[in-house]
Parts: sequence; C-alpha cells; structure tokens
Amino acid sequence: MADPAQALWHELEALDRPTLAALFADPARLDRYCSTLDLPGGAIRFDWSKTHLSPDVERVLGAIAATMDLAGKREQLFDGALINNTEGRAAEHAAERCVGSPTSVVEAEALHARMKGLVEAIHEGLLGDVHSLIHIGIGGSALGPALAIDALTRDGADVVVHVVSNIDGCALEDAMMACDPATTMIAIASKTFTTTETMTNAASALDWLREGGVDDPYGRVVALTASPDKAVEWGVDETRVLPFNESVGGRYSLWSSIGFPIALALGFDAFQEFLDGAAAIDRHFLETPLETNAVVRAAFADLIYTQARGCQTRAVFAYDERLKLVPDYLQQLEMESNGKSVNAAGEPLTRPSAPVTWGGVGTDAQHAVFQLLHQGTHLIPVDFLAVKIPGHDLDPLHHHILLSNCFAQGAALMAGKAAAEGDSLGGARAYPGNRPSATMLCDECNPATLGALVAFHEHRTFVSAMMIGINPFDQFGVELGKAIAKQIDSGSGEGFDPSTNALLAAAGIGA
Ligand code: F6P
Repeated sequence: MADPAQALWHELEALDRPTLAALFADPARLDRYCSTLDLPGGAIRFDWSKTHLSPDVERVLGAIAATMDLAGKREQLFDGALINNTEGRAAEHAAERCVGSPTSVVEAEALHARMKGLVEAIHEGLLGDVHSLIHIGIGGSALGPALAIDALTRDGADVVVHVVSNIDGCALEDAMMACDPATTMIAIASKTFTTTETMTNAASALDWLREGGVDDPYGRVVALTASPDKAVEWGVDETRVLPFNESVGGRYSLWSSIGFPIALALGFDAFQEFLDGAAAIDRHFLETPLETNAVVRAAFADLIYTQARGCQTRAVFAYDERLKLVPDYLQQLEMESNGKSVNAAGEPLTRPSAPVTWGGVGTDAQHAVFQLLHQGTHLIPVDFLAVKIPGHDLDPLHHHILLSNCFAQGAALMAGKAAAEGDSLGGARAYPGNRPSATMLCDECNPATLGALVAFHEHRTFVSAMMIGINPFDQFGVELGKAIAKQIDSGSGEGFDPSTNALLAAAGIGA
C-alpha cells in the first residue's frame, strides 16, 4: 500500500525554508513554541522556538497527523488497544502510571501494592540486614533503573543499588567487590526471564552469595518479570517474585516492578512521585489538542529534520551531571522503538525512520564534539537538558557557568557568525548558524521531574512512529544476532562466513 501521506511529505520538503533568525521576526514566536508545564515536581520549560517549526510546517504536519489518524492512535494507546500489532499486544506503560484502561490500571495498582509490601518489608529488616542490592538486567530491564538511581541518589539511598547489565564478568565483579554477600540482595530483572546475559549473571551472583557464606542464597533473590512461572522454576520463591504485565514493553518497563530498585533505594513514596510526574505528562499528551501539545510539537520538529532535511542523527546533551545517563536511556527508547525499515503492515518504508540518537554531558561535550555541531557539514538538531537548582553545595558559580554555557550553545548554533572582513582564513573562523536546538529547563531534578521527562520522550517517540506509520513496540531486529550467538555457543553452527570463522578460530571459541 502506498504511503497515504506521501504527497504531504513532499509538500513539507518543498516548503520555503526561512532561517531561524527570520522566523524570530515574528514577535509571538517565543510564546507559540515555548511552553512551561506545571508538573508535580516543579515546572519544566519546553522551548522549541529555536527549531524550524513555523505555521506553514505545522499546517502540513497537522495534515499528515490527520491522514495518519494520530489523534485516534493516541486514544488507542491509552485505551489498551492492540497497538503493537506485530506481537498482538497493547502497549500499556501508561496504565502503570494510572492513566489507561480501567482494568489495566487496577491490575497495575495491585502489582505496585505487592511491590510496595516487599520494599517495606526489606526496609523494616524483615529479610535481615540489607545494605546493598545488585540489580541484574539488560536493555530496558537495566537502563531505566540505572538512570533513576544515578539521577536521584546523590544525597544517599536507603539501600545502595548496583546495576549490572553486561555479560562481561568485569561488570558483575565490580559490583561484587563493592558489596558484602551477607547484606546484599539480588534482583533479577527480565521481562522474559530467558535473556542469556541476565540469566548467566544471575547464576554467578547466586554462586557468589553461596561462596560468601549465605546459607539460603535463593532467599536473597527477588525476581522482576512478566514471566513469573519461569522465575519460580529458576528457584525464586513465589513471595519474592514481582510480576508485571506482558503488555508493558521492555524499554517502557521502569514504571512496573522493574522499578523495584528505585523504590528500594529511595522509598516507595518517591517511586510514587516518579509515577505521578509521568502521569502528568500522560494527561497533557492525551488531553491537549495536537496544535498546542508540547509532546506533539517536539515530535513535529524531529520530523522536519529527519523527513525533510536529511538529518540522520539527533544529539541530546544533559547540562547536569545527575542526568548524564539520559542520552543512553533515550538511545534505546528511540532507536529500538523506531529503528525500522517497514511500516506496521510489514511493507517497506518509503521514508527514513528514526535518526540515530546520541549525546553526552555538558559542558564536557563542548570540548570534544561541539566543533562538528557548529561548523561540520552535517546538520544535527540538538536537545539541551538543564535544571535550575544545582545538585551540589559548592559555590553557586559552578551552576552559573554550567547554565550560561548551555544557553550560549543554543544561541551560538542559531546565530552563527560571519568571517571578519579581510580575514584570509575567514572560512575557518566563520559559523554558518541557523542550526536548530531545543531546550528543556526543569525547576528541579527530583523523582517527579525525571518521571515527566521520561514519559515526555516515550510519547514523543510514539508520535514520530505514528506519523510515519510504523509499530514502535516490537524489536525483531535484535533477534538474528542472538540466534547466531546461540549457535556459536552450542557449537551447532554449520560454519559462517570466512571472516567470522577466522575470528572464532583466532579467539579459540566455537565449533
Ligand atoms: O534484546 C532486546 C531486548 O529484548 C530488549 O527489548 C529488552 O529490554 C532486553 O532485551 C532485555 O530483555 P528481558 O527483560 O526479557 O531480559
């Protein structure tokens, strides 16, 4: 089936391209493209005015949204419809935040109550002395907890959490060296409870407890999973299995029992605040008309660059050390969701899908990669994330310099600078400018704000997917490599290409 919006995408490509400076000739621009949402953890200012959004662009993207039934798809998402059509599932992460179909919300609340019970039992010492938790999971079962723990535990934690994802034993060994087996619990976080890396690390962690003198190592294990039967079969006592719903995707699962380490480190009330912050964004996304919706606006700007300006990447820089894992988190969210080359019906896409998401932390990145952003031949839209209140007690000068630099980068990307007259090497010192950026400025970095930021990006990713007609909720692209690794491990491979065969021989592994 031809892309029903193809002609409109061509219209988007063919629109006049006023510069950002020209667009700012409209005195209403800042009000139109910058909105401040009052959220449970404090306000977040979403400033998209330094992008090439314009009434013309919005008219065409609005027509594409109508053609692709974006508003209808948004309803379906929150109603628990089987929007993940290739896997025959709903995508009910918002129900975990109490925004969704009533049945799923009730179910999620019951599962959260179970998790709260276990968290409180551990805090009350009913499972013995627990000072540390080694959280073992990978991908969506690790990146969310790692982000939240890193961002929110600067001032200490009830239980110290170490997130271990990689199969490389160095990762688990590092965590083991920082913990005492006598006072450590292990969380095995896996939606499927079959992932090789996680199950291998879990077995080694169990050995470590045993060798460390723990009489009942299984008694120190908690399972966070949508496959509770498999966890029980593996040996986890049913009372310490915290299930979550199959309709919550792995990279959307930190709101479910996968968030157990967040609740254990910060207390369940803080975890509830995290959910509440996300729920406020759910309601904004669901209830605000597309034209004034901050989430839709962000996705529309993304689409200008990916669909009409040939941009293959988007960069995200956190100007706050607490948010340094945001780029990693968004990489999985956006690339695993929208990195597809077929539409939801399995037909080849006629348009680009997701850009590559990459980034880092400011100001470090300014001294490493910003050269290319300012003067390279690539056009790379940039997101800046900043927080008004610092996370430290040092001289306020630190934060002043941090924020000044953040805002200076956006200003410089947009304004550019012509070469000085008579400068024979003028080209080398000129900045083209007219380079887009968006800025998210949070009042505070707290559980509710972080929840809001993550939910904002979940829905931003969803809008982009709906606009180009793909299913963002499957990830079949990860399977082939896993299957080949299994063949190699089991020695059942029939022989691979000459390069792979030689690598296996050189490393001394395989058949
Ligand atoms: O390999 C990709 C993936 O399936 C992700 O989508 C998922 O978050 C991760 O692996 C971990 O899967 P699980 O939670 O089932 O262990």
